[in-house]
Amino acid sequence: MTFVPTGLTADLAEGTMRGVEVGGEGVLVANVAGTFYAIARKCPHMGFDLAKGALEGARVTCRMHDASFDLATGEAVEKAKLLFLKTRPKPVRTYPVRVVDGAITVEV
Ligand code: FES
Repeated sequence: MTFVPTGLTADLAEGTMRGVEVGGEGVLVANVAGTFYAIARKCPHMGFDLAKGALEGARVTCRMHDASFDLATGEAVEKAKLLFLKTRPKPVRTYPVRVVDGAITVEV
């Protein structure tokens, strides 16, 4: 496992996120009040890109069916809503993050 640079902290403002490719994997990197998190971009419900979702505090909500995930644990904190069904997706994968000399690095 290697920590791979994904960008500069100065380029990711607090309360924002972006999707990146790290080692061939789609990763969402977020800045929550100066703490950086990384999770898989692919929603574990039906695969929508979580980087196109909404960031609120330390959770990201998928635009497709409104499931929300805790960035620290990857656990689903809100169920996906599809017609009249509500289902709790599996946790999304989380990645270790380190800031090194102003760069956000993610271990893949
Ligand atoms: S694809 Fe993300 S909640 Fe359904």
